[in-house]
Amino acid sequence: MKKRTRVTHLPEVPVPPDNRPLVAPIYQSVKFTFDDVGETQRYWRRERDGFYYSRGSNPTLRQLELALAELQGRDACLVAGSGVAAIAVTLLGLLRAGDHVVYFAELYGPTRGFIRRVLGRYGVAGTMLSVDDTAALERTLATTPTRLVVFETPTNPALKVADIGRITALARAHGALTLLDNTLGGLHNHGGFEVDLFAHSLTKYASGHGDAMGGAVIGRRELIESLREDFTVVGPTLDPHAAFLILRGLRTYFLRWDAQCRNALRVAEFLASRPEVSRVRYPGLPADPGHALAARQMEGFGTLVTFDLAAGLEAGTRFAEALELFAIAASLGSTESLVVAPAMQQPRGFTSEHAAWTDIGPGTVRLSIGIEDADDLVDDLRQALERSAS
Ligand SMILES: Cc1ncc(COP(=O)(O)O)c(C=O)c1O
Repeated sequence: MKKRTRVTHLPEVPVPPDNRPLVAPIYQSVKFTFDDVGETQRYWRRERDGFYYSRGSNPTLRQLELALAELQGRDACLVAGSGVAAIAVTLLGLLRAGDHVVYFAELYGPTRGFIRRVLGRYGVAGTMLSVDDTAALERTLATTPTRLVVFETPTNPALKVADIGRITALARAHGALTLLDNTLGGLHNHGGFEVDLFAHSLTKYASGHGDAMGGAVIGRRELIESLREDFTVVGPTLDPHAAFLILRGLRTYFLRWDAQCRNALRVAEFLASRPEVSRVRYPGLPADPGHALAARQMEGFGTLVTFDLAAGLEAGTRFAEALELFAIAASLGSTESLVVAPAMQQPRGFTSEHAAWTDIGPGTVRLSIGIEDADDLVDDLRQALERSAS
């Protein structure tokens, strides 16, 4: 073999079957080959296992899918290049022109935008409600044939806790599927409920280090396989290297989750004791309106703490800028603590009634709590509260 050929046909390094790597290698290969055309065609006809082209699947992606499905208590998963890609491909796959979807004002903005703006262009109708109002959900489902109910719990940033049992029971009674964006709930929570599909942004707790983006949709096999066909022609594929980073993050998921939940409770208790703070929202606080429900539904109350500064919007900006350990940044679920100031999250594009449903006020601050020492976080919050008040 000439050198010019060799560099495109590299030597193989067979690994003996009794000499396995402890960490699966990254399958950073777009293509997989079979020894003959017949086997390739058998694969296409789904008569044999294997891999062919990584836009559809790949062993590294498959390992992540298997792990996530098991964590969520379902038998199948499809990973995507981001959380919004997973949600978009799920909505595209499930909904047809003429279908009706129920969604909530408290949903992550891009999910609402996709339903209203994108799906609206293709003849899908939607009704937006507040996740607090299950009576309105019942009325809507009773009067309008509905294909899908899309919800989140806890909601972002108000941390309202949705009644999953009630929402899924109502949806089932009226023949609608449910999609729960479980990103804030955590990868291990809510699997005991009759939710048809779970979506996750893997960018958050699964990756855990703020260095890789990904998304997943998880559910029973026939639903996931029906989504996979559309997925392959749309192509929102997760890169195997990002999947590898997410798999690495997943190994410490429970350590991080437990430490972040512990820190979040400590921060929430501290904020509740401060005169500058008019309200703290954290489902782990016994006084929180969602506490009893969250205690039944979740293991760990989550890692976001949302609170209202009595002094309002500008005090919120001063507060965020006075923090030294908390970076002013979006996202959540990473090892470092972050802050979103009120001016960064005021409701936009809502009527005043719908804006009220979001429960975001002029002084609403969202904290994402990391794994730092809790004393340092509390000290930083204290000095920022004092400096922003003066
Ligand atoms: C609840 C929720 N769902 C979905 C997403 C989207 O995830 P990604 O940024 O991975 O696309 C986010 C991101 O902030 C989120 O908070």
